[in-house]
Amino acid sequence: MTEASHFPSDFVWGAATSAYQIEGSPLADGAGASNWHRFCHTPGMTAGGATGDVAADHYRRWPEDVALMKWLGLKAYRFSLSWSRILPDGYGRLNAAGLDFYDRLVDGLLTAGVDPWVTLFHWDLPAALDERGGFTNPDMAGWFGEYAAVVYARLGDRVRRWMTLNEPWVVMDGGYLYGVHAPGHRSAYEAARAAHQMMRAHGAGVAAFRAAGSPGEIGLVVNLEPKYPATRSGKDKAAAMRADAYMNRWFLDGARFGSYPEELPGIFGEAWPDIDPADFGPMTAPIDFVGVNYYTRGIVRNDPKGQPFDWYRVPPKKRGATTTGWEVHAPSFTRVLEWVKERYGDLPIYVTENGSAFPDPPAVRGKVLADPKRVAYLRSHLAAAADAIANGVNLRGYFAWSLLDNFEWGSYEKRFGLIHVNYKTQKRTPKASAHVYRNVIATNGASLSAPRGKASRGAR
Ligand code: FCB
Repeated sequence: MTEASHFPSDFVWGAATSAYQIEGSPLADGAGASNWHRFCHTPGMTAGGATGDVAADHYRRWPEDVALMKWLGLKAYRFSLSWSRILPDGYGRLNAAGLDFYDRLVDGLLTAGVDPWVTLFHWDLPAALDERGGFTNPDMAGWFGEYAAVVYARLGDRVRRWMTLNEPWVVMDGGYLYGVHAPGHRSAYEAARAAHQMMRAHGAGVAAFRAAGSPGEIGLVVNLEPKYPATRSGKDKAAAMRADAYMNRWFLDGARFGSYPEELPGIFGEAWPDIDPADFGPMTAPIDFVGVNYYTRGIVRNDPKGQPFDWYRVPPKKRGATTTGWEVHAPSFTRVLEWVKERYGDLPIYVTENGSAFPDPPAVRGKVLADPKRVAYLRSHLAAAADAIANGVNLRGYFAWSLLDNFEWGSYEKRFGLIHVNYKTQKRTPKASAHVYRNVIATNGASLSAPRGKASRGAR
C-alpha cells in the first residue's frame, strides 16, 4: 500500500492480553489453581522456574492499564477470563469475588470508552478439571458450557464480543503432544482426543451464548501459519499439505464444515480416535466471526524419520527473526487472510493477535523507549492487512499482541508489549511502537501511508 487510509471508518483498533500472562495473584480472593499455575510450579517446566505469580500485576494495577488503553485510543481490548477465579472447581461452586473482578474491569473499560472483547478460554484451565483428565475428558463440553453460561449471565449485558477458545491448536500441540505447555503431557493419543473435546467445548460455548439470548457476537480464535514447501519436490509439497491440515485446517474445518481434514487419520495413525459423527453437529453452530492470530509462516520439509510426524519445520535464519525465532513475513499475513475467505466464506474476520518479540533497551526516564524492529513489524503487518482489505477480505479489526510485556508461557524474556513493563518495579513505559500505534488509531490508519523507513520496507 502506498497512499491514504485503507481501513473502513468503523475498523476496530485494539490490543490483546490473556489472564495468566498478565494478572498475577493467581490464588487471590478465593480463586482455584489453574493448570498453568501447577505447571509453572513444577520444577523444570519453565525457564528458571518462571511463573505467573506476579506477571504484570494487572489484577491489582488494572486501573492504570485501562488508563494506558485510553491514552492509546484503543477502541477495543481483548482479554481472557480466568475460569478458576470464577469457578474454583471448574464447575458448581461460584467464587463471587472472581467474577466481581471482571465485572469491575468491564465497567472500567466502558467508562474509558474501550469496548471489552472477552475470550473464555486462553489456556488456563481449572486444575480441578485437569485432575479429571482435562480436555481428554468428554465431560469437558458440559463443564465449558456451564462456565460460559455463568459468565454470559453476569457480563452479557455489557460485553458484546465473545470468543470461546484461543488457539486450540497450541493447547493440543504444546500441551498434550510435546508437553512444553500445561498440562505437560506427551501423547499423540491424548492430543487428538483433546483437540476433539476442545471443539466440542467450543460448540457448547456457542450454544450457551445463543441460549442466554444476550445481544452480541461470538467467534472462535485460531492461529494460522501458511505452510510453504522447502523445495519444489513433490514430497515436500505433500508434507506442506499435511502440516497445513494439522495446523491450519483442523479447527476451522471442524467449526465450519463439521469434519476434520482427511489427512489427519493418516498423520496420527493408530493414535487417531474413532469419532462419533453426532459430535460434529453442535460443533458447527454458526459463529459470527473468525478470529485470526498471525505471527509468521512455516517452511516445511518432508522427513520420513520424523517423530511423531513425518515432516519438519525448517527454522528460519536467525538474522531478522524475532526473539521467538519466528521469521518476519508480512506477505503471508495478507495471504492467510485471503485464504480464510476463500476456504471458509465471507464471515467477518478480526485479527485477534499479531505482534513481535524483540529485546528492548532498558527504559530511561522521560525518554521514549526505541523499539525500531517492533515498529517495523507493526507497520509492515498493518500494510499487509490493508492489502487484504483492498483484495476484498472482510477484515473488520486488528488487535495488537500485546498491550503489555507479559509472561510468554514459560519466560519473561520474550517481550511482545507495546508498553514496556519493568518487572522489578512494575513501572509501565510506552515504547515507540505504542506511539506509532496511537497515531495509527487516531488517523484510522492514514498515518501508515506516510513514507516508511527503510527498515519497515525491508521487513516486508
Ligand atoms: C499466541 C498466544 C498468546 C501469545 C502469543 C505470542 O500463540 O495466543 O498468548 O503467547 O502467541
